[in-house]
Amino acid sequence: MKAEILKRLKEAGDHVSGQELCEALSVSRTAVWKVIRQLQDEGYVIEAVRNRGYRLLSSRDILSGAELAGCIECRELGQNPVYLKEVDSTNIMARKLAEEDAPHGTVVVADTQSAGKGRRGRGWVSPPGTGIWMSLVLRPPVLPRHASALTLVAAMAVQKALSEIPGVGAEIKWPNDVVVNGKKVCGILTEMSSELDDIRYVVTGIGINVNQDLFPPEIAGKATSLKLETGVEVGRALLIGRVLRHFESYYELFLQTSDMALLKDEYMGAMVNRNREVSVLEFSGTWNGVATGINCDGELMVMTADGTVQTVCSGEVSVRGVYGYT
Ligand code: BTN
Repeated sequence: MKAEILKRLKEAGDHVSGQELCEALSVSRTAVWKVIRQLQDEGYVIEAVRNRGYRLLSSRDILSGAELAGCIECRELGQNPVYLKEVDSTNIMARKLAEEDAPHGTVVVADTQSAGKGRRGRGWVSPPGTGIWMSLVLRPPVLPRHASALTLVAAMAVQKALSEIPGVGAEIKWPNDVVVNGKKVCGILTEMSSELDDIRYVVTGIGINVNQDLFPPEIAGKATSLKLETGVEVGRALLIGRVLRHFESYYELFLQTSDMALLKDEYMGAMVNRNREVSVLEFSGTWNGVATGINCDGELMVMTADGTVQTVCSGEVSVRGVYGYT
């Protein structure tokens, strides 16, 4: 009912009478009033004028269950989004829900994470009111060895959604960072639970720096937010809706072949480090070459000085630009 009242207030752009809301939703005036109070508590500025009704004056960048429900237009993803004001990590919560049989497409979103997880055991700074911290529960009918490509699929969805924002030129740094003007705006962490030949579930966690005004000094040199790059605040719920819509389309293409065959050309078109000299940091040592693209498995192809092409698998190495982060 909350999502429906919010939708009607937004669509009207003017006063909506209490009577009209009661009749449309078959509820009492008190019930409508209670929902209006809840929305006001969540930060929506709603005026109530005697004999005219309710009018939404401002909603800035509010993230709430009702706002999310109104922005998600997917067939399978995020049908009942789980919104939490605070959580340790949306990946941890999504894994817990997956273990409790949450269906494919379950989406967990939090306003802040107290123990956000990054790749390679690092943390992920997730302050309140600023970013998108979300995780998807996926149950893809593919072999476990194909799951790592889902991280690249997620990067494509984020890159496309960000590129739709005026003034944002988003690119992908293989395998799964999304960068704007050479700095990281998005990181993705995919975790899997599998048996020998079956995936039980995959959790794909996506962190997007949206409206931060500054970053801790240790990451300020290589991290940025959409607001810092455009000077404009971006609505997080709307952006989540777009990321999910693109993810759903790319995911369907991924499932047709269980790999990146139908996606790799578009992925390579968005790569910031394609045709650039990169350093590959392996356990056994570091070597340089030119990144030429990806193969159907989503591995990076790197040409070394003697002209041979090596494939680099995302789980095993870290790739840096020779002249900086990208
Ligand atoms: C990286 O190190 O680049 C990956 C960062 C992934 C962060 C996201 S935020 C939402 C989800 N929950 C987490 O704890 N991590 C991921």
